[in-house]
Amino acid sequence: MKSNKLSKSLSSIVGSVTAEVFAESKKLQRMGKNVINLAIGQPDFLPLDEVLEATANFVMDGKVQYTESKGIFDLRKSIVDYYQVDASPETEVVVTAGGKLGIFGAVWSVCNPGDNVIVLDPSWVSYGSIIKSFGCIPKYLEVGKDFTFDEDDLRNLIDDRTKALIVNSPCNPTGQIISEKKLASLYNLCAENEILLISDEIYNEYVFGNKPFFSLTKINNWKDYGVAINGFSKTFSMTGFRVGYAISNELITNEINKVMQLTASCATNFAQHAAVVALKNIGKMRVRIQEIMKPRLDRLIELDGELLGFDLLRPQGAMYGWFKLHDVQDTAKWAKELLKEKLVAVTPGIGFGPHGEGWFRISYATKLENLEDGLQRISDFVNKKN
Ligand SMILES: Cc1ncc(COP(=O)(O)O)c(C=O)c1O
Repeated sequence: MKSNKLSKSLSSIVGSVTAEVFAESKKLQRMGKNVINLAIGQPDFLPLDEVLEATANFVMDGKVQYTESKGIFDLRKSIVDYYQVDASPETEVVVTAGGKLGIFGAVWSVCNPGDNVIVLDPSWVSYGSIIKSFGCIPKYLEVGKDFTFDEDDLRNLIDDRTKALIVNSPCNPTGQIISEKKLASLYNLCAENEILLISDEIYNEYVFGNKPFFSLTKINNWKDYGVAINGFSKTFSMTGFRVGYAISNELITNEINKVMQLTASCATNFAQHAAVVALKNIGKMRVRIQEIMKPRLDRLIELDGELLGFDLLRPQGAMYGWFKLHDVQDTAKWAKELLKEKLVAVTPGIGFGPHGEGWFRISYATKLENLEDGLQRISDFVNKKN
């Protein structure tokens, strides 16, 4: 078959630079090279023992069949309790096979081919691709430190084919947290224009400074035009369990439920039961996240002061360091050269949107010695010391 016979929307999504760097780093590793991978956005610690043991028991108990497409009631109820939100577990929560499918569902629920969705720039690589996969157009709104944006720029982006806006706080890649005031102003603009605010809150437990996380679900009337997306991948280090969720009004959750019926059918049965156990142990997980990740972030900040050639945007949350390079125009090329010469995998900023160019992202969900060695190698590369 010829490539022109493929779906235009799907084939418009070309392999990302992120994937290229990842594939190349794996190849080098297979060749026995000492590659430091600072590109992976996945906690490097295991889920709690309670969760692992319960999972094994749920499997042995035979919890391996389909569940209701919107998820088992116990989990939907536990999610409402955890979120402390005024939402009905019966009609306003849907469990998805990972947070990513929740985002797909939210976009799918309001978009027709040719519509557009506003994406804050920089933000997670996958938003643009998800939007394009529906034959829709991502429109980028430049956002600075602390989520500063120009309200007029945003108003100018909105037209009658704008169906949604995606915000992610704590943000991948910048680590910034949106304030209550800015989130409310985004929400009000969305409500005014009758567009859906998709709030990706997947890193809500990865908060390390004084600035608190603020959820969309705490904003007045948020359910009218808002959907909160979250999951167990990051909070409980359960990336492979594939359990996420969406909370919104019944109209939207119904549509997302249809997406679950059409795609995964349901999130994995035993993984949903394990997720209930995970939420019961959220206190323990919060301690673990702080104990493991906070010293890494502190060291990252120290290293930023010690090493030359790039500057860290001080992260407030998530698991990423977002660095500005001086005098590098093509960060994709730069990242490939860095990997080849110094065997460090980072994610080039351009993958996160047009305004990500000139930046790179590292994940500090890795051991301190990797972080230190990796950043030293990057500094050497930038300063061309060998
Ligand atoms: C910003 C953001 N949202 C959503 C996800 C998806 O997470 P999952 O589908 O594993 O729940 C990720 C994963 O990297 C992410 O970084």
